[in-house]
Amino acid sequence: MYNLTGRNIVLGVTGSIAAYKAADLASKLTQAECSVDVIMTPEAAKFIAPLTFSSVTGRPAYASMWDAASAVTEAHVALSRRADLLVIAPATATTLARFAAGSAEDLVSLTALATRAPILICPAMDPNMFEHPAVQANVETLKARGVYFVGPDEGRLASGQMGVGRLSEVETVMGAIRFVLGRGGDLAAKKIVVTAGGTREQIDPVRYVGNYSSGKMGFAVAAAARDRGADSVLITAPTELADPYAVDVIRVKSAMEMRDAVAEQCARADALVMTAAVADYQPAEAIGEKIKREGRDSLTISLVRTPDILKDLSADEGLIKVGFAAESNDLLENARKKLKSKGVDLIVANDITAEGSGFGADTNQVTLLDKSGAEEELPLIGKYEVASRILDRVVSLIETRQR
Ligand code: CTP
Repeated sequence: MYNLTGRNIVLGVTGSIAAYKAADLASKLTQAECSVDVIMTPEAAKFIAPLTFSSVTGRPAYASMWDAASAVTEAHVALSRRADLLVIAPATATTLARFAAGSAEDLVSLTALATRAPILICPAMDPNMFEHPAVQANVETLKARGVYFVGPDEGRLASGQMGVGRLSEVETVMGAIRFVLGRGGDLAAKKIVVTAGGTREQIDPVRYVGNYSSGKMGFAVAAAARDRGADSVLITAPTELADPYAVDVIRVKSAMEMRDAVAEQCARADALVMTAAVADYQPAEAIGEKIKREGRDSLTISLVRTPDILKDLSADEGLIKVGFAAESNDLLENARKKLKSKGVDLIVANDITAEGSGFGADTNQVTLLDKSGAEEELPLIGKYEVASRILDRVVSLIETRQR
């Protein structure tokens, strides 16, 4: 997970029914090789035991300033200094009020005052409470001080009520943590445009020409760029994947729509990474009404070429272009041809028939080919890791480019 590995996260848990979800968050962070120290308010400890947290993190969890007084008093100072990030999940209305007022009534608010690490707050409360001007004013005060927020989300609450107040999903909170930790990374102040998914070329209002691309590779590149501080823009054809936190997502359908979005976004970008499986052909004419079966024993659809987005892009001098070559045979030979014909700085060659590298897989095995003729074969690794290796190259290409 790159920017999570070895990081010190202090997780503050406060008294909401959503506190049980914090155990999953603590577990996911620990699995991502973070060192996770949990601090709780006494109210949180009524919803979930510190033992649950210490069991998943392998480290002590503290619920009161006074239990094991000396150890904890030292601990909160040490924790607040050591923390790379303080995450408050879930954060109640009382917690927001204490933070905004600078009060140190419990271990969590006290640590928030003592630390100089960034703070990420994940509120969870009744929708009426969250909407209340007092709570909103506290949120604004904290935002103005540079505190980050994720959620609350809209949905069904434990009370049965619907509204904005749910703790964000753990995956979203993980994305927000990675985003905050990535501020000031090696792609800070750089705009990276990524395309993903398989385009859909309309035949009639209910049918399209498409392909099996899941979009996972592109989503991983966009998230990994965000995690290094980039201004990350993701132009995606339809996929089942949720918008990654703090990535500017632009949803398109066809190759033509993707071309227009890429042209617009690349006008002021540092790099374009085209992972999208762009359809090479589209129906010659779009039929406005559903094609009926009656009276037809067969159907011929005439297809015409779509634009080659990567090749035709007339971008700024200095835009770094990365293409993918999805091949089922003669991988490197075809990739070398595409490197030249598409005028890109780097080609990521991907054998789609190889075990673990097909459409929809969470892993990928690729070879990176650059203009100098160098070819680097990477092992079969997770798509986020592949994305990180591609971005390592993008970082050095940006450093050495001429503009
Ligand atoms: N690409 C593009 N516009 C297209 C087709 C492909 O920008 N109309 C991009 C892809 O996003 C990828 C690269 O070009 O980064 C290579 O795509 P690929 O499908 O492997 O190659 P094609 O150019 O379509 O050639 P072929 O299908 O014949 O292998």
